[in-house]
Amino acid sequence: MKKTVSKNKKKTPKNRIKSKTEPRSAIDFLKNPMEFYEKLLITTGDAIEITDLDGNIIYASEHAAALFGVEDSKLLKWKSSIVFIAPECREKALLNLKRVIKEGFLSRMEYTMLRSDGSRFTAEINSSIIMGENSMPAAVLNTMHDVSKSRLTEGMLKKTEENYRAIFNAVNDGIIIVDPETGDIVDANKKAYEIKGCSFEMLKERGLRLFISPKDDTAIEDVLLKNRGQLKHDDVHVFECSDRVAGVEQWVEVSLKKDVISGKQYLIAVVRDITKKKKMEDDLNQSFNAVKKVMDGIINAMEKLVEKKDLYTVGHQHRTAQLARAIAGQMGLPGEQINCVYISALIHDIGKIFVSGSILNKAGPLTKEEYEIIKQHPEAGYEVLKTIDFPWPIADIILQHHERLDGSGYPYGLKDERIYLESRIISVADVVEAITFARPYRPAFGIDKALEEISANRGRLYDAEVVDITVSLMKEQGFKFE
Ligand SMILES: [Fe+2]
Repeated sequence: MKKTVSKNKKKTPKNRIKSKTEPRSAIDFLKNPMEFYEKLLITTGDAIEITDLDGNIIYASEHAAALFGVEDSKLLKWKSSIVFIAPECREKALLNLKRVIKEGFLSRMEYTMLRSDGSRFTAEINSSIIMGENSMPAAVLNTMHDVSKSRLTEGMLKKTEENYRAIFNAVNDGIIIVDPETGDIVDANKKAYEIKGCSFEMLKERGLRLFISPKDDTAIEDVLLKNRGQLKHDDVHVFECSDRVAGVEQWVEVSLKKDVISGKQYLIAVVRDITKKKKMEDDLNQSFNAVKKVMDGIINAMEKLVEKKDLYTVGHQHRTAQLARAIAGQMGLPGEQINCVYISALIHDIGKIFVSGSILNKAGPLTKEEYEIIKQHPEAGYEVLKTIDFPWPIADIILQHHERLDGSGYPYGLKDERIYLESRIISVADVVEAITFARPYRPAFGIDKALEEISANRGRLYDAEVVDITVSLMKEQGFKFE
């Protein structure tokens, strides 16, 4: 019987190794170096092109075909590689080809390239020589990849940095970036060292202390060393300091703030030259003080003018003003309003200069007609003062200093809140002073009688709060007339 071989006969391991259909092992693959290198180069993702020594393409990988926009890599064979290089780069490419042949290797050459449709891209190319028989150069291996996107990004980043740097240097304030750990200056714009008339190197060497005048050294040391560590993220610490630059006094304002730059904490100091501002403030203060001096003189003259005519009231306006100022202060009014109360009270009877001396200085009681003439003094005072441009409504306050809350006062019979608060204060101080002190035609009634009068009419004639404060000033706080 003929011996048959079963088709299903199991293959031995030996058979399996010999089978042509079985996958090869890595060791088999390494036996074919050309195939191995080709696969290796393809795996890198680079396009591969081999040219002869004249630059004609002998071999192109599929990546190269894709890079040049050609469907099949075989179509590239025997084409000149130069045609894929932009005209403006060709001369350089030919020179580099000669260098590769001579030197054996050139890396990181960058050209503008052309695709088959004429569109452009930037390629980075590494070239090395392939040696032929007799160890002579036979061909050139080029590996290339498209770097257009990364060059574009790099270009944009560079542009952005340039823009920021331009703004950094263009601002009119000095900006200094300090490492909070070491206190070293990391960066500074031009203005930062121009303010001090020095170089960046000098600024780096002396640090923020360059902006400290010797007399402020201790205070600034605190700012730098304490706040450097303790300054919270959103805190801004501002201080002013002065120094002499080229013999001239210079003032700078330094704002310190912590902020994060590229993930790291820095101390940012913005330095502003405020010398001109300081000078203007000084000039303004001097000018204000001069004007104030003149105004004080005029007020004093007005005060004395009334007293010259009304002999009975020597010192009355001054004492009234003293008490009115104390009341206003105790009420917690702003400083400017207290000044207003004080000055208004100093001249509150200025209108009496229009009243006849015979009436003002009459020893006996006044007739009804005489009293009516005296009652005109608030309006007369208003007429005198209304054209003077005081920073406060002094003319109106004086006009109302004899008004009473219930409307029984004069000249208009105004009530409650319609009467200026300053007038309500002066009216109480006026009454207290008048009752407390003697007049040539009568003895002093004393402070108790004065407090009795204002307390009896608290809230009816006189402002309740003003009365309470006056009583408290006299009884509890030891107020004394000068
Ligand atoms: Fe008066």
